[in-house]
Amino acid sequence: YPPERIRNFSIIAHVDHGKSTLADRLLELTGTIQKGHGAQYLDKLQVEKERGITVKAQTATMFYKHTVENPESHGTDTSSYLLNLIDTPGHVDFSYEVSRSLAACQGALLVVDAAQGVQAQTIANFYLAFESNLSIIPVINKIDQPTADPDNVKAQLKRLFDIDPSEALLTSAKTGQGLSQVLPAVIERIPCPPGNCDSPVRMLLLDSYYDEYKGVICHVAIVDGAMRKGDKISSAATGRTYEVFDVGIMHPELTPTGVLYTGQVGYVITGMRSTKEARIGDTLHQAKTIVEPLPGFKPVRHMVFSGVYPADGSDFEALSHAIEKLTCNDASVSVTKETSTALGMGFRCGFLGLLHMDVFHQRLEQEYGAQVISTIPTVPYIFEYGDESKVQIENPAALNFNAGKRITACWEPTVIATIIIPSEYVGPVIMLCSERRGEQQEYTFIDANRALLKYRLPLREIIVDFYNELKSITSGYATFDYEDSEYQKSDLVKMDILLNGQPVDAMATIIHNQKAQKVGRELVDKLKKFIES
Ligand code: GTP
Repeated sequence: YPPERIRNFSIIAHVDHGKSTLADRLLELTGTIQKGHGAQYLDKLQVEKERGITVKAQTATMFYKHTVENPESHGTDTSSYLLNLIDTPGHVDFSYEVSRSLAACQGALLVVDAAQGVQAQTIANFYLAFESNLSIIPVINKIDQPTADPDNVKAQLKRLFDIDPSEALLTSAKTGQGLSQVLPAVIERIPCPPGNCDSPVRMLLLDSYYDEYKGVICHVAIVDGAMRKGDKISSAATGRTYEVFDVGIMHPELTPTGVLYTGQVGYVITGMRSTKEARIGDTLHQAKTIVEPLPGFKPVRHMVFSGVYPADGSDFEALSHAIEKLTCNDASVSVTKETSTALGMGFRCGFLGLLHMDVFHQRLEQEYGAQVISTIPTVPYIFEYGDESKVQIENPAALNFNAGKRITACWEPTVIATIIIPSEYVGPVIMLCSERRGEQQEYTFIDANRALLKYRLPLREIIVDFYNELKSITSGYATFDYEDSEYQKSDLVKMDILLNGQPVDAMATIIHNQKAQKVGRELVDKLKKFIES
C-alpha cells in the first residue's frame, strides 16, 4: 500500500460516549473481527472490561474497499485502503496516552453522545487533536436514544470549536445506523501520512509491552522508508542497534508481514530484553545512518504519589516482583523503594492521576494477587530553604523541619479544571470550588441549559474526594477534566499524627495552614473510633 492509500486515525471522546463500541463496529464492518465476539475488542485489560473504561491505547489495522464514481467512464472505481485505527483512553488521567496515540495520526473521529452533548473531556480531547493539526471528523453517536438531540450538539460544536454543522456524521453504534458513512469520510477527509518512501527507514516508537513468549513488542509508526525482517535498526535515544526478528501489523492480533512501509503502523520484535530499552517517543532508524530524531512526546509528569506496602510485611519480595512485572507494561508509573517504621519495606509510586493510581492497585491485586496497603495520596510540593536551595517532596514524612535549615517558601502544583454542568447546579459548584481554594477563570454557557466553569485549583484539593463530591452535588451530571498548570506559592505546613507520643510516618501529610486544624481533628477523631473498636 503506498501512503496515498493509507489512513491513520484515532477515535476521541468523553468517557462512555461510545468510542469503543464504534471501534468494534468498524472492525466488524471491515471483517477484522467476527460479529458478536462479546466484550469490546480493543479494551483488553481485565480492569478495562470491568470498569468499562479504556486505559491503554491499542491499535488495529483494517482493510477497506472504497468505491468512488468516475465521471469519465460513468462507472465506479474501487480501491483498497489500509486503515490504522488507534484507540485512545477517554479519562482525564490518561491524556498522556491520548497525545501519544495522536502523534501517529493525521485525523480523528470526535465522538459526542447525541443526548449528553459536549462534555469536559470532549473539550480536552478536541484541543489535543486540534493542536496536533489533525483533521477532525465530528461523529454524533447514540442517535437511537429517545433523548437524542443532534441539532443541539451540532450547535454546541459550532459554538465551541467552530465546526460546520454539515460536517457532522450521525450514527448509532448500537443499531448500526449511519455507520456506512464513517470509513468513506475517513478516506476522503483525512490526509494520507506524509513521509519519504525512498529515505532510510525512520519510525516513531509509540508503545511497548512485554510478552512472555515473544519478548519486547514495540508498536511503531513508519515515517520514512521501509523496515524488513533481518534489517538492523538503532535507537536514537540509546544508540543501541538491534536486528529485526519479526515485523507485521495488528490485524487485530500480531500478523507477520515481513515488512512495514512508509505511513504504516505496526509492530516490531527485536532482541530488546526489557521495555526499559524501548523508550516511548524514541526514534528508531536504519543502523549506521545519522538521522534527525522525530519530535518525541511530552515527558510523563507524575502528579500523585503514594506509598505501596505489602499487607503482610513478609510479602515484600512478592510485591516487588509484581510491581516489576506491572511496570514493564506501564512505563508511566515511577517506583522507588522506601521504608516506613510503621509499615516496613515498600515502594513510593508516582502516578499520572488518581484513577491511574486506582487502576494500578487493582491490577496489582487482580493480575498478580498482591495484597497491598497504600498511604494517603500526596502531590509533589517544592520547598525552598534559606540558602535558596530547593527540594521536591513526594513523601511528606521526608520533610524534616528540624534539619537545621529554615524553610523560606513553599509551592504547590495547580491545575486548570473544566467543569460542565446543567445551569441549576452552578451555585453549589462555585461553592465547592471556593471551598477547595479555587480561583475562577471562566464562566460561560455552551447552550441554553449548560454552563462551563473554569477554575485554577491546587492539585492537592482535587485528588481527595473532589470528583465524588462534584458528582454528588450535581446529581451525577457534572463532567470534569483538568490540565496541569503552574506551581503557586502557598502557606503549607506538615501535619504529623502522633500515637502514644510518637509520630507515625505513614500518616504524615502536607496541608494548607488554614485547613490543618479541621482536617487534623477529623482524622484523629476517626482514628480514635477505629482504635477503640
Ligand atoms: P471509554 O472506553 O471508557 O472511553 O468509553 P467509550 O467511549 O468507549 O464508551 P463505550 O463504547 O464503552 O460505550 C458506553 C456505553 O454506551 C455502552 O454501554 C454502550 O453499549 C453504549 N453505546 C455505545 N454506542 C451506543 C449507541 O449508538 N446507542 C446507544 N443507545 N448506546 C450506545
